[in-house]
Amino acid sequence: MPGRVKADLKGVPETALWTLYHRAAEAARPDAVLADPRAVQLIGEVDFPFRDRLGGARPWLAQAIALRALGFDGVVRAFLTAHPDGTVIALGEGLETQFWRVDNGRADWVTVDLTDPLALRRRLLPHGARQRLVACDVRDSQWMAGIDPSRGVLVTAQGLMMYLQPAQATQLIAACAGAFPGGSMVFDTVSRRFSARTRTGAKGPGGHRLPPMPWGMDAADRDRLRTAHPAISDVSDVPLPAGRGVLGYLAPRAAALPLLRGDRPLITRLRFGTAPARLTGCP
Ligand SMILES: C[S@@+](CC[C@H](N)C(=O)[O-])C[C@H]1O[C@@H](n2cnc3c(N)ncnc32)[C@H](O)[C@@H]1O
Repeated sequence: MPGRVKADLKGVPETALWTLYHRAAEAARPDAVLADPRAVQLIGEVDFPFRDRLGGARPWLAQAIALRALGFDGVVRAFLTAHPDGTVIALGEGLETQFWRVDNGRADWVTVDLTDPLALRRRLLPHGARQRLVACDVRDSQWMAGIDPSRGVLVTAQGLMMYLQPAQATQLIAACAGAFPGGSMVFDTVSRRFSARTRTGAKGPGGHRLPPMPWGMDAADRDRLRTAHPAISDVSDVPLPAGRGVLGYLAPRAAALPLLRGDRPLITRLRFGTAPARLTGCP
């Protein structure tokens, strides 16, 4: 397709196209729960057989992915209200267009992803002076080098943590807690049962086979995250915002519903106290 940027991602990096596809499908609706014209535009600029490789974007799943993004947007907006000159670090950001949804014109934004998805992002999206792209595996703390924690830091990890091994997820959380005193982190997780299903190679809820998700966590496990690092001062739930129809009604109420309470995706926010920090690493 002339004029389009070819996307040749496989495995876990390909999931960046999967989430973009669903967010854009939702955002293109007249009754969308998420306003994201940049994502809709992006779909037309990528040379990738979305339908053949990922199947159709089912409307309920597109809305669910968009509500997750909206939940993250709410946390970022609250952070930027409290720290207008702070730094948002988006781990595993893929082709997320959140910057263009929430930017306040002052904050710094650091995108961290693996080499190939990051190169694709760089070609597709117009990054400005306050945006930095770091090609690094999040399991390697070199991505932290050069980040100034003094004006406030929020680390986001949307659609990332489930692809790590449980011990790697805990190490990443601990590294962030140690490196960004006074900062916070927000991430989503799949349930233990869902994680187990992906490890058997079962198809996901959209009929597409997603890569294995080794880390699953249930709501009952959440408080144990405190033990990852002594600087973690608070662990809290970020409820999904309300949306459209039955799914949109149930989304913010899932924690109270017996059938969904124990086996559902979660968004969790951690706050870090002011333990001493030492940032080391390569540039
Ligand atoms: C499901 S996509 C989510 C992308 C984006 N956050 C979103 O919500 O649309 C997962 C992203 O995490 C990235 N990723 C997975 N494992 C990673 C790792 N170990 N280090 C850095 N990025 C990673 C993938 O390349 C991909 O961009």
